[in-house]
Amino acid sequence: MSKKKAAKPAAKKSAATPVKKTQKAVASKPVKAADAAGGNKSRMTENRLFKPSAEFSGKARISSMSQYKKMHEESLKNPDKFFGREAKELHWTKPFTKVLDWKCPSAKWFTGGKLNVSENCLDRHLQGPRKTKAALIWEGEPGEKRVLTYQQLHREVCRFANVLKRHKVKKGDRVVIYLPMIPEAAIAMLACTRIGAIHNVIFGGFSAESIKDRVLDSGAKIIITADGGYRRGAVVPLKKNVDDALKAKDTPVETVIVYKRTGQEVHIEEGRDVWWSRELEYVDAHCPPVTMDSESPLFILYTSGSTGKPKGILHTTGGYLLHAQMTCKYVFDLRDEDVYWCTADVGWVTGHSYLVYGPLAVGATSLMFEGAPNWPENDRFWKIIEEYAVTVFYTAPTAIRAFMKWGDEWLQKHDLSSLRLLGTVGEPINPEAWMWYHTKVGGGRCPIVDTWWQTETGGHMITPLPGATPTKPGTATLPFFGVDVAIVDDLGKEVGTDEQGKLVIRKPWPSMLRGIWGDKARYQDTYWSEFKGWYFAGDGARRDKDGYIWIIGRIDDVLNVAGHRLGTAEVESALVSHPAVAEAAVVGRPDEMKGQGVVCFVTVKEGVKTGRELADELKKHVRKVIGPVATPDEVRFAVALPKTRSGKIMRRLLKQIAAGEIIKGDTTTLEDINVIAQLVASGEN
Ligand code: PRX
Repeated sequence: MSKKKAAKPAAKKSAATPVKKTQKAVASKPVKAADAAGGNKSRMTENRLFKPSAEFSGKARISSMSQYKKMHEESLKNPDKFFGREAKELHWTKPFTKVLDWKCPSAKWFTGGKLNVSENCLDRHLQGPRKTKAALIWEGEPGEKRVLTYQQLHREVCRFANVLKRHKVKKGDRVVIYLPMIPEAAIAMLACTRIGAIHNVIFGGFSAESIKDRVLDSGAKIIITADGGYRRGAVVPLKKNVDDALKAKDTPVETVIVYKRTGQEVHIEEGRDVWWSRELEYVDAHCPPVTMDSESPLFILYTSGSTGKPKGILHTTGGYLLHAQMTCKYVFDLRDEDVYWCTADVGWVTGHSYLVYGPLAVGATSLMFEGAPNWPENDRFWKIIEEYAVTVFYTAPTAIRAFMKWGDEWLQKHDLSSLRLLGTVGEPINPEAWMWYHTKVGGGRCPIVDTWWQTETGGHMITPLPGATPTKPGTATLPFFGVDVAIVDDLGKEVGTDEQGKLVIRKPWPSMLRGIWGDKARYQDTYWSEFKGWYFAGDGARRDKDGYIWIIGRIDDVLNVAGHRLGTAEVESALVSHPAVAEAAVVGRPDEMKGQGVVCFVTVKEGVKTGRELADELKKHVRKVIGPVATPDEVRFAVALPKTRSGKIMRRLLKQIAAGEIIKGDTTTLEDINVIAQLVASGEN
């Protein structure tokens, strides 16, 4: 990106045999880079099959492939009947009159229906025994513990909703939530839904600059934050980041509510900042839920795209909640006696759908942990699983690869026998990591649900059903109910078995995004233009002979770093905002642990001295502008970037150079072939 453009935006039958065989092999083999980076080498030849045990299937809601197929077929052929029936399990204050109204790209689900999300997640569980059951179990990084029953969580949500009302937050207003992983994050989200405000949660690892962009774009007039949060023993200065963000001119923010978490001193801006605890003193615990239309906006969540600034993905009420509830029921098979733990931060969509809304909608017990997996030691997760007798565990392949690297001794110290089901999300899982997860964490008895989905899809789209689907290490297997997946070539024609193509979804589904906040054209362009009438996910995939779908990874200019989405354009824009930089191009490179690493090719302005010092400074700069998730792994200085004669940067070549590969493919369109030799020789600095 140049300075000028910167602003623009069958196998074997039972689980037992293969498990035993691979146990030894897994322990002794290191993770291969090719595997971790989408695992495409070994994923091409993987065909071990793991059937759910008769015991698991016997109890599961969907217990056979024939049941799955029948339901999936009905969900596609007769969505009105299928989803109309499923939606009856939600609590509607007014019943819907129509299931689906679809005029691409606008979908309306459950028209005429009225409901409230917090009422569905809380109030409806207060009638029976769930009232006194744990809704949220929380552990802080320093080790504090809190349990909130459904009744207690309901009370806290009502009180905080009244605080919001006291600050004149109304239906449709945007509320930014920038909190650590503490129960107050869930309380704030649910409080918004109670009064019909639209929340916009910002991950605590994002910078002041990122907060500013999101506040301005969403037009939020209130921010809910904390003095700080804990991360690996250090304090993350959340309030300070908010203060810095609000130094920007003309922000719409009138109020900042601050929760005291770490107790360090923070600046309090008179007339703007108030303390959470103090505010509660002014309110009572009575707050009737506001009745919302099924299609009322529920939340905005920003995510990276291939161009420009992150986009505010908009989700609405009825369809989103139904999908979150259904997937918790069918994919996680959640039951009253489960202790379910999703390790994602509430700042990501996984935290929204599978830490807060889905589990609470089905009345489960959801565990929330504030800290990192390796603090104070590498067994923190296993300790938590043992202590709380976690039954269903959902995490990311990046974490699994880190655990493998740290060694089996960390989990051998703990009793993990409470686990009955495992899940992964966020990036392709390499078969070795899958096998390790299966044998070492799951003891060979727990099915693994590898769930493919996106911020935009709101919930699981391609996933095994644990009591029905035989799984293979590395594939998310088959589409969920209502999901019509195809893998197509550039012309929209379905590709053959084992051929790679673009992943599209040909029918609307209840939890699909309804738009990009404030940008109708971008919504249409990004998702619905490549193939008319179909949703284009931005991922490449292939289907094997059994019809299983193997996700290859992003095929647009979006990176997946440790399961986090990052637009190359965003990092380039951050780089060129540094005074030393003339031009920048950012690409991903396979990374053993993180899936992808961030490599930046940079040209500097006349007279600027390049070297390690500047490289480090640029890394810090990107970290400051976007946040730690975007920290470059490598900055390489170049005399010039490889461009076509029409001035387009040839990223394909940069990707090969970054990966240390031999340059392949056509280079005749290059403006200056000498650039390549210099870039290859450049290395870091
Ligand atoms: O490339 C896919 C990858 O993550 C992208 C979506 O990222 P985000 O919107 O941040 O949501 C992450 C959590 C839902 C997808 O386009 N991805 C997600 N899950 C998987 C995956 N890739 C392969 N296998 C998965 N299970």
